[in-house]
Amino acid sequence: VANGTPFIFSAVELPETRHLVRLVLIRTLVERDIDYVTESVNAEKWGYDRRDIERCWRYEPDGCFVAEIDNIPIGHVFSICYGKIGWIGLLRVDPEHRRRRIGRDLMRVTLNYQQGAGAEAIRLVARDEAVPLYLSLGFREEFEVIRFSRQIRRADSVNVDKQAWISQMRQKDIEDLAKFDCKYFGASRVCVLRSLYKDEPRLCFLAREGTRLLGYVMARRIRDAYYAGPWVCENPERAEDLLCACIGAVSEETELRLDMGSLNENGTGLMRKLGFHVMGTTISMVWGERKHGGNSAGIYGIGGREKG
Ligand SMILES: CC(C)(COP(=O)(O)OP(=O)(O)OC[C@H]1O[C@@H](n2cnc3c(N)ncnc32)[C@H](O)[C@@H]1OP(=O)(O)O)[C@@H](O)C(=O)NCCC(=O)NCCS
Repeated sequence: VANGTPFIFSAVELPETRHLVRLVLIRTLVERDIDYVTESVNAEKWGYDRRDIERCWRYEPDGCFVAEIDNIPIGHVFSICYGKIGWIGLLRVDPEHRRRRIGRDLMRVTLNYQQGAGAEAIRLVARDEAVPLYLSLGFREEFEVIRFSRQIRRADSVNVDKQAWISQMRQKDIEDLAKFDCKYFGASRVCVLRSLYKDEPRLCFLAREGTRLLGYVMARRIRDAYYAGPWVCENPERAEDLLCACIGAVSEETELRLDMGSLNENGTGLMRKLGFHVMGTTISMVWGERKHGGNSAGIYGIGGREKG
């Protein structure tokens, strides 16, 4: 079912209508819902702007869902299927409608969609308060994901041309980059890489030794800061060069954030060395097969909690 036709419903009793049961419909998310979702995620201060939400929706419109009562959206969830790996994010139910199983229904619809699309391992990054819901649906906890942040000053400027290993990413690099990334992420996410590059090419860098690719980083402006990720590299020295290139290219007084798995000890050491501080933690969870895990040792920064 596409184009926003409702295809699942449940009934809830609203306090203000005493005993009158209202239908909750779940349907695919359509373009007119983007403003509602932007407002909804801003209420949680998740830092996304409209462009981020629209980009996430365009990756896979059939994998994003809205719950509504009387034609008014009251909750949403997004997902992307990268072949055998599925990713779910941006689950939220409006506060006045919580604890009525709407979050669970949105998740069940999305899990169903992901399995139908071929996903065998379905991942997400959970906030503490949502962990019981995910556990009850069969997700298992994997490791902590740490959000780091650092203030950027103009004086941090780094001349990328002077770093022998680092070069500005080009459009034509994306195919090779996607193959390299696949070894770490566990599946091809070429559509995401293309779209991130298109939005902010000046903040995308590669590390190479001769013609061999060693790593890359992509950063972008988010609502109230900049965000670095995906940031993937086979060795810690080049990973540092990549992030420094990014910091230099931001070239404004702002904040740079990223999300890193706590198992990446080189990465967490690097964060301390570069003066990043911990903003908070979330939990990486997986449903189904774990074997499509890639190689998380080389993942310094995830692409985003909403898309892996
Ligand atoms: C997390 C969220 C989506 C859950 O939506 P919801 O519609 O309230 O969840 P449901 O009613 O479907 O909950 C199903 C089960 O999950 C568990 N659960 C849900 N919210 C919970 C909470 N705050 N604390 C503990 N358990 C919770 C319960 O077991 C619940 O079943 P029960 O009510 O029969 O005990 C909603 O609280 C929300 O939007 N929170 C803010 C945004 C957010 O944190 N999103 C998750 C990002 S990872």
